[in-house]
Amino acid sequence: MKKILITGASGYVGSVLVRLLLEKNYAVVAVDRFFFGDRLPEHTNLTKIKTDSRLLTSDLFKGINTVIDLVALSNDPSGELFKDITFEINHKSRSKTAKLAKACGVKQYILPSSCSIYGFQDVQVNEESKTNALTTYAIANEKAEFDVLALADDSFCVTVLRQATLFGYSPRMRFDLAINGMTLGAFKNGRLPLMRDGKQVRPMLHVKDTSELMCLLLETPYSTINREIFNVGSNEQNYQLSQLADSVCDALKKITGMDIPIDWYGDPDKRSYNVNFDKIRNVLNWTPKYSVAYGVTEITEKLQSKELEDTPDTITLNWYIDLVKWHKIIKDTQLSDCILHLSESTE
Ligand SMILES: NC(=O)c1ccc[n+]([C@@H]2O[C@H](COP(=O)([O-])OP(=O)(O)OC[C@H]3O[C@@H](n4cnc5c(N)ncnc54)[C@H](O)[C@@H]3O)[C@@H](O)[C@H]2O)c1
Repeated sequence: MKKILITGASGYVGSVLVRLLLEKNYAVVAVDRFFFGDRLPEHTNLTKIKTDSRLLTSDLFKGINTVIDLVALSNDPSGELFKDITFEINHKSRSKTAKLAKACGVKQYILPSSCSIYGFQDVQVNEESKTNALTTYAIANEKAEFDVLALADDSFCVTVLRQATLFGYSPRMRFDLAINGMTLGAFKNGRLPLMRDGKQVRPMLHVKDTSELMCLLLETPYSTINREIFNVGSNEQNYQLSQLADSVCDALKKITGMDIPIDWYGDPDKRSYNVNFDKIRNVLNWTPKYSVAYGVTEITEKLQSKELEDTPDTITLNWYIDLVKWHKIIKDTQLSDCILHLSESTE
């Protein structure tokens, strides 16, 4: 049984990926600080390790076949507010983890990066195109890509995945992702907020598709994927935002019967990037399976049944801000590790 170590394992991607790996009979070591709680199942083939990715030591890598290094402060606004920490986690810790893994004899390392490192460009971009990382989050990803690819050799297979913007249901839900947020807004308020002028293009991908792809890499000959960068998504799922909004409205109407008007806001946003996904289709014979309508439908049904709610931890940046705020409040008010009681035993 192959043993896979995943960092950031209880996050939006991780909590879908870990379940898939267990279904496919892999053993999984899940490393996470659990900032968003423990979103993982209990399973005999799953070991959960609560630690920080900046503190990993070589003993963790014993018997590991592959590391999938998901850990990150995972969006642009969090990256701007927590700049230094974003570099520490998204760049430095992943670089260190890859080095440790290689030194410990791990054979494969996968870096889930992001198409956002292309920044904003007028022409369609592929893996050979110049990058244009504009935000702290994107720059940290780019630096991590550079460091980990330099470690690749015949005994250490390194693959970089530049994922499109993800959507769809996950046990650690994120409503700060475009399609998920549009779906929630339309479901809750009956109106879909959309930034003018709607012509901006962005690639989209279901979270189950990226997880499936990561599983596929575990069984792909290293000679095919070593030292390679793949854009993960499909040409067909490059959307103009106005098209995307129409798809979300159509899918919602089928379930709720509601017509959803669009609420335009902001000045025209000229930023746009259109990504080419030929390489992943041609080299790995892989294309995504799940459509936007599928993602919107599953989220809406879960919102309707109240299996899913827009709890504060579903907006990544706000949750990190809350954690930092409450950490201070608790430190200032606690006595002997307690808030209202006087001893731990009665707390
Ligand atoms: N979601 C997307 O649209 C998208 C798109 C492209 C790339 N990515 C990349 O995929 C990866 C996963 O993203 P996600 O959406 O699952 O993010 P997420 O925020 O849901 O998950 C990140 C996980 O990492 C954990 N974590 C953060 N810092 C840690 C630390 N120092 N030590 C241990 N654990 C820590 C958090 O507790 C969380 O469980 C990230 O690298 C992200 O940049 C995501």
